[in-house]
Amino acid sequence: MTEINKITVLGSGIMGHGIAQISAKAGFEVTLRDVDTKFLDSAMSKIKWSLDKLVEKQKITQAESETIYSRIHPVVDLKQALSGADLLIEAVPEDMELKKKVYLDVDKHSDSKTIYASNTSTLPITEISSLTNRPNRFIGLHFFNPPQLMKLVEVIPGITTDQQIIKVGIDFVKRVGKEPVLCRKDVPGFIVNRIFIPLIHEAAYCLDRDGPSMTQLDSAVKFRLSFPMGIFELADYTGLDVIHKATSEMFSRDKKVIFPHPRIKELFDQGKYGKKSGSGFYSYSGEQYERVSLSEEDSKAYNPIKLLAVALNNAAWLITNKVCTLEDLEIALKLGMGLRNPLFRTGEQFGIKGVVDTLQDLHAKYGDFYKPDNFLLSLR
Ligand code: 3HC
Repeated sequence: MTEINKITVLGSGIMGHGIAQISAKAGFEVTLRDVDTKFLDSAMSKIKWSLDKLVEKQKITQAESETIYSRIHPVVDLKQALSGADLLIEAVPEDMELKKKVYLDVDKHSDSKTIYASNTSTLPITEISSLTNRPNRFIGLHFFNPPQLMKLVEVIPGITTDQQIIKVGIDFVKRVGKEPVLCRKDVPGFIVNRIFIPLIHEAAYCLDRDGPSMTQLDSAVKFRLSFPMGIFELADYTGLDVIHKATSEMFSRDKKVIFPHPRIKELFDQGKYGKKSGSGFYSYSGEQYERVSLSEEDSKAYNPIKLLAVALNNAAWLITNKVCTLEDLEIALKLGMGLRNPLFRTGEQFGIKGVVDTLQDLHAKYGDFYKPDNFLLSLR
C-alpha cells in the first residue's frame, strides 16, 4: 500500500486552504501552493481565523492549533512545492484550460511516486486525468465547503484509475476524519452537485413563477425541507462564480441535467459572487462569516414542493443510473449539505404522489427537465 505522509495542495482559495488545514490537523506535513504570496497570506490568515474558532469552541487546544498551523508551509515555487509529495490535491479554479496548463507544469516537476487528486466539483475526472502523465494514478476527491466543518468527501475514480488508488483515496479521506462516499460514475455534478446546482436555478424560477420573497423561500427551504441554510443563502455562501462555472460545465455535458435560469449568469456577469464580493442574491456587510436572517414564521408563507420535487427527481436519477445507492445518497446529503432529515423521508412527509404530480405538471408546462424519473414513479 502506498504510504501517504506529505501532501501538496495546489490553490489556496476557499477549498484549498480548508483542505490544507484538515490535512495538517490529521498530522500530515502540508505544502500549500499558490501563484502569488498575497493569495497565500490571505489563506494563512483564514486558516488562523478557523483554528481560533475551533479553539474558542474547545474542539482543539491552543497548543494543537499552533502545531497544526506550523505544519502548513506556504510556497509559490511549483518545483519546490511538489518536491517529495506523496499526494497532490489540486484545488485550482474550475476551468479545463487552466487545469490543462497547471497539470502540464505539474507533470514536469512531480516525483514519479506522487498520486494526483483533483477537488474538481464538476469537471470529468477521466478527462482531467488524461491530461496528465499518470491517468491510472489519478482520482477525484471532492470536498465540501467549508472543508473544516463538512464531513463528506466524494471519491470519484476515472475510467483508468487503478483499484489501489481508489483504496488510497478512501484511506486518506478517513485519515483526515472525513466520510468517503464512492461516486461510481463520472457523471456531471457527481452526487451532491447534481442535486444542489439545479436547485438554485429552480429556486430562481420559483421566485418568478410563484412570487414569494427570497427570505420566504429560503425560510421554507430551511425550516420545511430541513436544510441548514436557505438555498439562495447557500448559493451566496458557495459563490456565484463557482455556481456559474459548475452550471456551464454540467449543462455543456448534458442538457437534461439542469434548467438554467438567466439570473445566475447575470449575477456572475455583474461580479456579484455572493458573500465573497459583498453581494449576490443578498447583500453582506463584510468578509466575516455572516448568516441571512430566516424564520419559521416566514417559512409558512411558501410551500417548497417544487424545490423538493426537483431535488428528489435528480436524486432518483442518481439511483436509477447506479451512480450511488439510496443509502450513500442520504449520507452524502447529510454530510455534504447538512440536511437534517433524509431527503426521501421529507418526500414521504410531503407525499410522493403530490411530488410526482408537481413534476408532471411542470413537465407539461416547461419540458423534459421535469420528467419524473422511474425510481420516483415506483415509490408512488
Ligand atoms: N472553520 C471553523 N469554524 C467555522 C468555519 C470554518 N471554516 N466556518 C464557520 N465556522 C463557525 C462559525 O463562525 C460559527 O461560529 P459562531 O457560533 O461562533 O458564530 C459556527 O461555525 C457555525 O455556526 P452557525 O450557527 O452558522 O451554524 P450551522 O449549524 O448552520 O453550521 C454550516 C454552519 C456547517 C456552514 C451549516 O450551515 C451547513 O452545513 N451549511 C450548508 C453548507 C453546504 O451545503 N456546503 C456544501 C456546498 S456545495 C459544495 O461545497 C460543493 C462545491 O463543489 C460547489
